[in-house]
Amino acid sequence: MSGHNVWTHKGTFLLAAVGSAVGLGNLWRFPYLTGENGGGAFILVYALTIFAVGIPILIAEIMLGRTSRQSPIMGMRHLTKTHGTSRAWETIGWLGAASAFLILSFYSVIAGWAIHYTWLMLTGSLVGADAQTISTGFDALLAAPGLMTLYHTLFIAASALIVGMGIHKGIESGLRIMMPALFVILLVVLAYGVINGDIGAAASFLFTFNIADLSLEGWLQAMGQSFFTLSLGMGAIMAYGAYMPSNVSLTRTAFAVAIVDTAVAMVAGLAIFALVFGAGLETGQGPGLMFVTLPLAFAEMPFGALVGGVFFILVLGAAISSSISLIEPVAAFLVERFDMTRPQAVTIMVIAAWAMGLLTVVSFNLWAEGTIFHTLFGRTAFDFIELLTNIFMPVGGLLIALFAGWALTQSEVMKELGSSVAWFKLWRFLVRFVAPAAVAFVFLRTLPQVEGYLIPTLGALLIIGAFAASQRWLKKPRQTT
Ligand code: PHE
Repeated sequence: MSGHNVWTHKGTFLLAAVGSAVGLGNLWRFPYLTGENGGGAFILVYALTIFAVGIPILIAEIMLGRTSRQSPIMGMRHLTKTHGTSRAWETIGWLGAASAFLILSFYSVIAGWAIHYTWLMLTGSLVGADAQTISTGFDALLAAPGLMTLYHTLFIAASALIVGMGIHKGIESGLRIMMPALFVILLVVLAYGVINGDIGAAASFLFTFNIADLSLEGWLQAMGQSFFTLSLGMGAIMAYGAYMPSNVSLTRTAFAVAIVDTAVAMVAGLAIFALVFGAGLETGQGPGLMFVTLPLAFAEMPFGALVGGVFFILVLGAAISSSISLIEPVAAFLVERFDMTRPQAVTIMVIAAWAMGLLTVVSFNLWAEGTIFHTLFGRTAFDFIELLTNIFMPVGGLLIALFAGWALTQSEVMKELGSSVAWFKLWRFLVRFVAPAAVAFVFLRTLPQVEGYLIPTLGALLIIGAFAASQRWLKKPRQTT
C-alpha cells in the first residue's frame, strides 16, 4: 500500500464528506432544476433515489475507499487483484475522473457568479433594488464572457492552491464554523421568506407530488441530482474514505451526510421559492434562479448588504470545500500512478478543467440559445456537460454498487459495516438489486427519448456493458470464495 495517512480525528471524515456534499448542488442546482421540472414530482424522484439508492451507494463508496486505502483508480486496481476480479472494474476510477473533470469545469464558473455577488453585496450596490433591476444586473453578468472568465479563473485557482499545497486536510476548523453559519443564514432568509414572501405557495409547489408533471429528461435530472448532491459515483467519497479511520461507523456517517445534505437543500428550496412566489418571479427561469431571488431578499432586509455579503462568502466556502473534493481523487491518482508531485498533478487537472470551463462561460453568451452552436447541437455546451454528468455519475454509482455488492465477501463487509447481520442483508439487497434496477429503470425510461441518437446509443452501451461486464469481471478463481 502507498503509505496512505489516516485522519486521526474521528469526526474529520464526516466533516470532509459534508463539506464535499453541501455546495452549489444544494443551493443553486437543486432549486433551479426543481423549478424547471415543475416542483414536487422532481423532488419525489430525487428523494426516493437519495434514500433507496444514494445512501446504500454512499456506504458502498466509502467502504471501497476505506478497504483499499488508495486513490479511486489505484484502489480499484488493488481491489480487483485481491478479489480475483477483472481489472476492468478500474472503469469506476476512470469514469469518476472524467465526471470530476466535467463537473469541476462548470462548477467553477457558477461559483464565479457567487464571487460577483459577494462583491455586489459588500459594496451595497443592490441595497433597495427591485426584482427588475436585479435580474437585469444578472443578465449583464451573463453577457460578459470576459468577466465570467475572470471569476472562473479566480475560483479554480483558489481551489487548486488549497489542494496543491495539501492544506485541504487542515481546513477542518474553517468548515466547523462555516457549515453551521451557512445553515443559520439560510434559516434567516427562510424566515424572511415566511414573513415577506409566499411560503404557502412555495410549500405546495415543492410538496405536491404529481408524478405526471415530470418530463422524461426530468427523471434523468432528478436521479443525476441525487448523485450530484451527495458527491456520489465519481470517486470523491472513495478518496475521502481512504483516509477514514477504521473504527468510525460507516452507516451512521452515511446517514448523517445524507440528512444534513437534504436538509440544506430543502431549506434553500423553501426560502428561494417563497421569494419567487412572493415577488411573482418565474419558477422555471433556469440557472440564474438563486442569483436573482436571494439578492432580492438581501436588498430589502435590514443590514441586508452585510447579511448578503456574509451569505455569499459562505456559499463560496461551501463551493470550495466541494471543488477540492473534485480535484483530490484525480490529483491523488496522478501522484500515485505517474509519480508526479502534488502541485504538478493539481496543475494539470485544473488547467484542463479551466479550459473546459470556457465552454460553460460561452454557453451563456457567445454560444447561447439562438447561436449557430445551439442550432447545431440542440442544446448549449453547458447543458450538454450537465447531461453527461447526469449519466456518468449514476453509471459510476451502479458499478460501485455492483462491485461492493457482489465482489466483496460477507466477512469483509461485516467488518466494515460493523453492525447487525440484518442490516448487512438489507444493505446488500439494496446494492445488489434495488440500486442497479433503479438506475437501469431511469436510463431505459429516459435515454431513448433524449437527444436524438447519440445519447441513447451511449447510454445503452454503458448499461449493457456494465451488466455484461459485471458478470464476466466478477468471475473469480474458485479458491478465493
Ligand atoms: N456535492 C457537491 C454539491 O452539491 C458537488 C460535487 C459533486 C462535489 C461531485 C464532489 C463530487 O455542490
